[in-house]
Amino acid sequence: MKDASAQTTPETIYLKDYKAFGWQIEDVHLTFKLSPDATRVVSKIHFAPNPDAPEQEFFLHGEELNLIRARIDGEAVTPETDARGLRCKVPSGPFLWECEVEIAPESNTALEGLYMSGGMYCTQCEAEGFRKITYYPDRPDVMAVFTVRVEGEMPVLLSNGNLKGKGDGWAEWHDPWPKPAYLFALVGGELVNHPGAFKTMSGKDIELNIWVRPGDEGKCAFGMEALIASMKWDEEVYGREYDLDTFNIVAVDDFNMGAMENKGLNIFNSSCVLASPETSTDGNFERIEAIIAHEYFHNWTGNRITCRDWFQLCLKEGLTVFRDGQFTSDLRSAPVKRIDDVITLRARQFPEDQGPLAHPVRPESFQEINNFYTATVYEKGAEVIGMLKTLVGDEAYSKALDLYFERHDGDAATIEDWIKVFEDSTGRDLTQFKRWYSQAGTPFVEVSEAWEDGTFTLTLKQHTPPSPGQESKAPYVIPIAVGLLGPNGDEVLETQILELTEAEQSFSFEGLAARPVASVNRGFSAPVVLSHDVDRAFLLAHDTDPFNRWDASQGLAKECLLAMITTGAEPDAIWLDGLEHVLRDQTLDPAYRSLMLDLPSASELAQVLADQGVTPDPEAIWAAGDRLVKARAERWKDLLPELAKEAEVTAPYKPDAEQSGKRALGASAATLISRLDGGKAAQARFDSADNMTLQLSALGNLIRVGQGDAALAKFYEQWKDDRLVMDKWFGLQIGASEPEAALDRAEALTQHPDFDWTNPNRFRAVFGALAMHHAAFHHKSGRGYALLTDWLIKLDDKNPQTTARMCSAFQTWKRYDAGRQALIQVQLERIMAKDNLSRDTSEMVSRILA
Ligand code: ARG
Ligand code: ZN
Repeated sequence: MKDASAQTTPETIYLKDYKAFGWQIEDVHLTFKLSPDATRVVSKIHFAPNPDAPEQEFFLHGEELNLIRARIDGEAVTPETDARGLRCKVPSGPFLWECEVEIAPESNTALEGLYMSGGMYCTQCEAEGFRKITYYPDRPDVMAVFTVRVEGEMPVLLSNGNLKGKGDGWAEWHDPWPKPAYLFALVGGELVNHPGAFKTMSGKDIELNIWVRPGDEGKCAFGMEALIASMKWDEEVYGREYDLDTFNIVAVDDFNMGAMENKGLNIFNSSCVLASPETSTDGNFERIEAIIAHEYFHNWTGNRITCRDWFQLCLKEGLTVFRDGQFTSDLRSAPVKRIDDVITLRARQFPEDQGPLAHPVRPESFQEINNFYTATVYEKGAEVIGMLKTLVGDEAYSKALDLYFERHDGDAATIEDWIKVFEDSTGRDLTQFKRWYSQAGTPFVEVSEAWEDGTFTLTLKQHTPPSPGQESKAPYVIPIAVGLLGPNGDEVLETQILELTEAEQSFSFEGLAARPVASVNRGFSAPVVLSHDVDRAFLLAHDTDPFNRWDASQGLAKECLLAMITTGAEPDAIWLDGLEHVLRDQTLDPAYRSLMLDLPSASELAQVLADQGVTPDPEAIWAAGDRLVKARAERWKDLLPELAKEAEVTAPYKPDAEQSGKRALGASAATLISRLDGGKAAQARFDSADNMTLQLSALGNLIRVGQGDAALAKFYEQWKDDRLVMDKWFGLQIGASEPEAALDRAEALTQHPDFDWTNPNRFRAVFGALAMHHAAFHHKSGRGYALLTDWLIKLDDKNPQTTARMCSAFQTWKRYDAGRQALIQVQLERIMAKDNLSRDTSEMVSRILA
């Protein structure tokens, strides 16, 4: 029975209500006496009135804390406490606040604040986890210097900053850089380190460590290399030097997110740092390299310059994603990275921006900030910075960034500050550009062409559909990169940036000998949906822009699949011929050719159909995809073995761009071959595999053709003691199966003894795979919806953050037919009716239902 009075509507926080905290903090001293069920945290904080803040009562955040005692200037006080924090009468001048609380890390299953993972103590404080550690003004604009003493029986006791001393059962850390509480971290456990060293540009020696559980030492070398490469890159490209004596990374098995940039003590989901060729795929290696870089880059974009409030989250996240993207492009292949990014953007950000969860890159209100660590804030936030750089140019961008670091070092800044830096350093008025931060929704840009007397005219029209709370949108500044190709395929006009600022605008190119073919939005210069009636087969054959060449093929793939779905048409032979030409071109990077072979996802096709006013039928999408794959396998049966041969790697395994590109092409070819030989070659690949990339792709092929059982059993025996590899085992058998088999497997796997559902990686392995299997999740029986819902309801009591995040599987529900919508609605209402539903999940589900 639901008690209406127990579930009060959560409070909504608004950007417009921002008010500075009434006090400043001179320093913070914390002492932790670690114990699984009764950790004591003693805090000593010097507060002084903040002259720039409005009058207010003294309020400290604090949740799930047992207050033992509190003192002001040595006198005992009895503050008023409630579920959100405490209020207390305080002196009008500076004072010393002392407080002791007790917490139980062992029973903290939300993995926020201080908790335990595999016997080890660790913390996650972003965004608002520090308030579960002690009473504190837990907001990013309150910055302080922390000194931390940790007492506990464990051999390794870590916190932020530099080590000041340690002895038997204690360690003391001091972080000289003022920081907000969300960057606080503490770790205690039986850990071993993989050491490293770095000499900074000014000659300082930094001690580096990756701390892991005994047994994982062999999986740290790659992460250490990536860290060193990141430190070097940030010096070379952004002039940013590291600023402490030590940099520590710790791997933790139970973690809600990928990783966290705590000052000098980054904490990582073990899946985002541990790597070895036998247990990690090429994709894992690349992701680990990028995340290590991302967290390291936060030291400047996030830590030295932090956010005034959580509405400004994109200030650090958009910029840091942009920076880690530049890093990956520099280290690996820039076109491949761009294509990968756009695939992710279209798969994750576009659906968010076009559905009920749409919100601006800088949101204006929230109930639970953890729900806003989204593809929009991160990925679109990075796209917005990319557009800004395109508009002002590379040199001006560098100058603006220098000014940003100079002007705002030590600040808790805002998007206004960020934009102002660009305005001041370039003299440009960015008022209109700022709409990218305040308006939600993916812009649609329609391109039309005219040709007359040697003059070619492109007319661009922009339109952004309404989104929750935003009925009408003003035009954006959209940088559209355009190049023109002549009839023989030569480039007659190099890439230029057209600045679309009006709802409709024309751009003319004069003095052309013949009507050109326009390559528009090259490099995906703006995150928009483009509609352009253009000869895509011509662009596939000739475009000099690698992104648009790939995207021309994607466009043809979509048209082909849509025709197959809606009219039962045969696969488009012209497209397949054009593609074959590209695949045979050995001057092209194998990684790029492998991307050329990938088809748009089912979910993307569903969105394209919905955009055209056609209700997507998941079964029909699945069937068309399957038919196309078979047709390609047949058609290319001579080409595929040649590609596989060309892609062979004989040198010892290296997870670099070159080798992984070859393996990707080989895997793409092998996947098609498995559809011809019933899995014979895949079995041989599986049996002889000496790296996880190969082993896993062969296993996927076997499962897909219904020959996976023996291999799955063998894989299980081989890897049952490796949690990260077992996550792959759980996920792949769902992801690679046919829809009904995928549902059967998902149901069975939730009963498997190794389905440790309180571990977010394991939960996501199963339910992430299910939600991403479009035809299985949207099976007309509603089985997929019900299964996910059963488990979301179960997980919500333990871990609201992961539960809420997984609810986004339902965000696209309005695309589908009435039958499916009704099935989903029942499940969403079932979640809403749960007793003590978390604030996180309640906010997500009500937004999805709205
Ligand atoms: N700042 C971290 C990162 O981007 C992510 C922290 C996520 N925290 C959260 N509560 N959602 O690297
Ligand atoms: Zn980040």
